Amino acid sequence: MFLLRLVPSTSFQPCLKGSLKGSLKGSLGQYVGHPTIFSKTHQRRRLTSTTTNNQVRLYSSNSPDLAGRKSSSVQKLNSSNSSNSSPSKKKPPSLNLQPPKGTRDFPPPLLRLRTYLFTLFRSASLSHGFSEYDSPVLESEELYTRKAGEEVTEQLYCFSDKGDRRVTLRPEMTPSLARIIMGTKPALPIKWFSIPQCWRYERMTRGRRREHYQWNVDVWGVQGVEAEVEVISVMVRFFTSVGITQSDVGIKVNSRGIIGALLEGLGIPEDKFAETCVLIDKLEKVPVEALKADLEELGITEEQITSLTDVLVHKDIEKISEVVGDCPAVQDVRKLFSMCTELGIVDWLEFDASVIRGLSYYTGIVFEAFDRSGTLRAIAGGGRYDKLLESFGGDPTPAVGFGFGDAVIVELLKDKNLLPDFEKGEVEFCVYSMDEGGTAKAMKVANELREKGCSVDVVLEEKKMKWAFKHADRIGAKRVVIVGGDEGSRGEVRVKNMESGEQETVKVAEIGEWAENI
Ligand code: HAM
Repeated sequence: MFLLRLVPSTSFQPCLKGSLKGSLKGSLGQYVGHPTIFSKTHQRRRLTSTTTNNQVRLYSSNSPDLAGRKSSSVQKLNSSNSSNSSPSKKKPPSLNLQPPKGTRDFPPPLLRLRTYLFTLFRSASLSHGFSEYDSPVLESEELYTRKAGEEVTEQLYCFSDKGDRRVTLRPEMTPSLARIIMGTKPALPIKWFSIPQCWRYERMTRGRRREHYQWNVDVWGVQGVEAEVEVISVMVRFFTSVGITQSDVGIKVNSRGIIGALLEGLGIPEDKFAETCVLIDKLEKVPVEALKADLEELGITEEQITSLTDVLVHKDIEKISEVVGDCPAVQDVRKLFSMCTELGIVDWLEFDASVIRGLSYYTGIVFEAFDRSGTLRAIAGGGRYDKLLESFGGDPTPAVGFGFGDAVIVELLKDKNLLPDFEKGEVEFCVYSMDEGGTAKAMKVANELREKGCSVDVVLEEKKMKWAFKHADRIGAKRVVIVGGDEGSRGEVRVKNMESGEQETVKVAEIGEWAENI
């Protein structure tokens, strides 16, 4: 039997409230957008809920066949409600409470998680001497109209603005970086990083969203593989800082120079290089038959592709060198591995000739960080792109870098139980007045503490002591400062340590000095 209930629309908010366990799971689910990690209650409601036009939701608590009958039941309820309500009582149409598909809200626990990641992205970059830059999320569409058949150029959030200019939300940062470098001509080499929000109209899968934040780390102006080693070292530093080890994550390395040598051997002209790389990358996801027309257009036969992919299965650079010889690409890979051995990070790396990466502008070494358990999509990807500036009409300029999304890494950290608890904030003091009309005094004490650099919340309304302590616990305050009462009449406040339960009295006049010494 159906149980049709009216539920206020707010009850369908993602579950950020409630017990720590349930709410943390819910929050993380929201961060990565993975539908299976909502709390049980929330899951049930998601499965059976429907938004109606008059701010009510219907759900069946136990019916498996609700989907079939839901719409007619909802319609009935809608029509009966609207015929009963007088025009003056008519509610405005209800708002869709979800952000646009594939995008996320960041209520405080999720923003704390994001800030945690960004802080560690920043500190790994800064530890290697990189400088941070940024650019507008809105870009000229022409930056991305590459003709190599890349997915990313087909996933643009593009439109004409009111001045009839073709613009797009940036799907990646690298072309913007090239534009900035071309425009500002900084003295090279440079080491820059950024954490932009990027937009791609993607089919959503675990760890792939329509917006994501992508940590970008790039070196411009360095010809040799030292630049690749440096950016890989930054990436490893980040992994280590979040508790990920080389047994959790590996970094596959290849060189498109090897593909170039193979294509040359097959008589495929150099100007087909970028498009062919994009096509070979697609072969990972779709069968060769599906790409037949594209291959024909490039003048590549299926036999040629087969002999190419036969070589690309190799996971040993020496096997590859038997086919293509000791060419510069092979030497670069060898040098990269030898440098990483010296740096003690070689255990993170493995050579894999099948790694191509989907972007057309890579010209040399390419690499991708992957989850060794094999359940997640690429954690990060990058490589050398020495010809990107030229493609915009600039001078040939060597460049290397990677992009590292915020979504897959959160999935991984969650799977490995490596995420700290972000449910509560970091407040040092919660100041509360127990006297009627004493809020101003509490605010004054709070300001004394803030003068000393403390983070301090104040109970702004007149509340019972029990409420104040509950509130302090909810916001994660380490100490509660109680203003007023007997201590107040003696010019003192009582301070309770929320963790140990210990209490002490402190003179109001000395509270700042006291705070500096705890
Ligand atoms: P990409 O391989 O397209 O490279 O993306 C790099 C990383 O960004 C991916 O490995 C993944 O972590 C993340 N990412 C990409 N798309 C999504 C998505 N839809 N949802 C969630 N995460 C995503 C680039 O974008 C290059 N511009 C990177 C680069 C910088 N190469 C040189 N410098």
